[in-house]
Amino acid sequence: MHRDSIRLKVVLSLIGPLIFLALINVYLTWRNAVETADLLTDRLLAASAAGIAERIHMGDDGIEALIPPSALAVFSNGDVGERIHYQVRGPDGELIAGDPDVALPAEPLRDLHMVFFDASFRAHAVRQVALRQPVIGGGDNASAVVIVGSTLKSRDGLVYRLWTQSIQGQLLLVAAAGLLSAVGIGLGLRPLLRFAREVEEREPDQLQSFDVGALPSELRPLATALNHAFERVSRQIGAQRRFIANAAHQLRTPLSILKAQASYGLREPSLEGKQLVLEAQEARINQMSRLVSQLLSLARAEQGALLMKADVDFAALTRDVLEEFATVAIDREIDLSFQDEGGPLVVTGHASLLREIVANLVDNAVRYSSPGATVAVDLLRYEGHVRLTIEDSGPGVSDEDLPRLTERFYRGSGAEGESGAEGTGLGLAIVRDIVEAHDGSLTLGRRTTGTGLVATVTLPEAKSAGDEPSGHST
Ligand SMILES: Nc1ncnc2c1ncn2[C@@H]1O[C@H](COP(=O)(O)OP(=O)(O)OP(=O)(O)O)[C@@H](O)[C@H]1O
Ligand SMILES: [Mg+2]
Repeated sequence: MHRDSIRLKVVLSLIGPLIFLALINVYLTWRNAVETADLLTDRLLAASAAGIAERIHMGDDGIEALIPPSALAVFSNGDVGERIHYQVRGPDGELIAGDPDVALPAEPLRDLHMVFFDASFRAHAVRQVALRQPVIGGGDNASAVVIVGSTLKSRDGLVYRLWTQSIQGQLLLVAAAGLLSAVGIGLGLRPLLRFAREVEEREPDQLQSFDVGALPSELRPLATALNHAFERVSRQIGAQRRFIANAAHQLRTPLSILKAQASYGLREPSLEGKQLVLEAQEARINQMSRLVSQLLSLARAEQGALLMKADVDFAALTRDVLEEFATVAIDREIDLSFQDEGGPLVVTGHASLLREIVANLVDNAVRYSSPGATVAVDLLRYEGHVRLTIEDSGPGVSDEDLPRLTERFYRGSGAEGESGAEGTGLGLAIVRDIVEAHDGSLTLGRRTTGTGLVATVTLPEAKSAGDEPSGHST
């Protein structure tokens, strides 16, 4: 079993306290066994001492003690090697019968009163009883003292037997509890292992949901979480498949045109003709290289969240991009204006990806508007965010197109119309991906007055703007 195993943990947490309780129990039983055995020994000693005391009487030469065999026979209960000793002394301490070496109790004796005590006799630990017995016919103060003692063999044997029995019982209990809980937990964990096997055996494209209702309640959160993860993965896979198919399609068309142009150019006899074909091919190649760089920036935007980010002055960056577009705007007779708060607006991000945002939105606004239109770019600080608005007075988009503009390769119905604008339909998808990779948001809407499109990008402003210029706080 592994160290992190649930089964091991549960069994240990069960067995640990059980062993502790068993140990307490073993100690208590030991004390109990000792008490029981002591009581039994003392009873036997008492019976024996009383038997001897009964037979003490005044004889012709003073006090006499007849030791009845029955008084000592009480001990012979089968235990081998138990040794009994006794002693009877007269009122003046003179030895009347028995062994002279028997130890006396520490406390003084009263008539007819028994005292039990531990002592040692001939280097053996013994249990003894002492009894003072008035001698019949011996007059006042004529009392004999009877002491009977026994080695502790049968007592210790009894303690041992009582105790080992109890320990065996306890060990059996602990072992049974451990075994039963291990088996029980194994049974309980079986659905989890079955579920794990089911997950394990799935093919890479097998992403359908698990039947949560058929699983034990403890596994349902796991299955639900897996279902959600599978859903996300299959959505992602679907999007990627579509993207690859679209990209391949987009690249195939210009390539086959290029091929047709090339074979036409080869057959063309005149130099001027060949020149014309090459010029057409150059335009086509430019278009293709734009498409390829767009695809690259899409791929980069997807990793955007992972890329190293730095503080970027979004205001300076926007101004830069707009300067690049100035000549195009003049060519197309479009009034391109810019307004901001004057100071730097710092966002954390990837400068070249952030440029793509502004470039694509301005490019659309300029490209789809007819001569004479206005394109107003606005940049301001707004509730801890930087907000970029690009508003044009162009044709705008239809109701059906508006929600689909950020789809990859989607082009509006008017896109190829009178403006004849070339494009692949990737621009806004790239903008959305980059904005999302920077924790920002993109909204596209219609202008409130007249036709035209309004694109709004919101990006979180960098927190670490320590040397923020004064007079620009909101
Ligand atoms: N300012 C705008 N005015 C009118 N239509 C717009 C505007 N911006 C975008 N559109 C519409 O949205 C569509 C998608 O725009 P997007 O920038 O994603 O692709 P594109 O401009 O067609 O191609 P490219 O990938 O070259 O940018 C366009 O084809 C166009 O129909
Ligand atoms: Mg575009």
